[in-house]
Amino acid sequence: MNMRIAVFASGRGSNLLAIHDAVISGKLEGISLDLAVCDRPDAPVVDLVHKRNIPDFIFCPKDYADKNGFETVIAEKLAEAKIGLVVLAGYMRLVGAVLLEKWEGRMINLHPSLLPAFPGKDAIGQAWRAGVKETGVTVHFVDAGMDTGRIYLQQKVTVDPDDTEESLSEKIHLLEHKLLPDAILKIIQEM
Ligand code: GAR
Repeated sequence: MNMRIAVFASGRGSNLLAIHDAVISGKLEGISLDLAVCDRPDAPVVDLVHKRNIPDFIFCPKDYADKNGFETVIAEKLAEAKIGLVVLAGYMRLVGAVLLEKWEGRMINLHPSLLPAFPGKDAIGQAWRAGVKETGVTVHFVDAGMDTGRIYLQQKVTVDPDDTEESLSEKIHLLEHKLLPDAILKIIQEM
């Protein structure tokens, strides 16, 4: 198997790192991370990508007339890099028509809640403030909606009585770092 993947991220990049670690360790055997896409040049993930020497496309949405403008360039980069699966790992932007037309069915997203509960931004904070006893992590295929595409995999996280929002957040991130590489491997094996 030889599958080239791209990871899109906007912030910290801990999931991009977890995927890259899984590639390096051989856990994602036959899979390579050949493009990192980032829409925020000042995000911490940019440093990680440079340190790891991952080929990248880092852009400022404001430099383009509209979403079609930057998505057209992203689509070209994905084609040049011969990418087979796109992974959104903290890419905090709705995907538009240009990318969906080419990538629907081959683009997945990670979300820190048990969708359809708590879509959108700050899902961990939303769950915490709602006082739920259980939340979790979802990997789903991307469609035009906000965290609405077909669910591929979910795993629960219990909110314990002594949890704080920070400890809950930590538990969710730890689970994400395992669940997302697992999901990538399974999806690619099923392709
Ligand atoms: C992750 O928790 C991911 O689930 C979330 O952003 C975080 C990125 O963390 N994504 C969403 O909320 C998408 N709606 P990271 O930059 O450390 O990987």
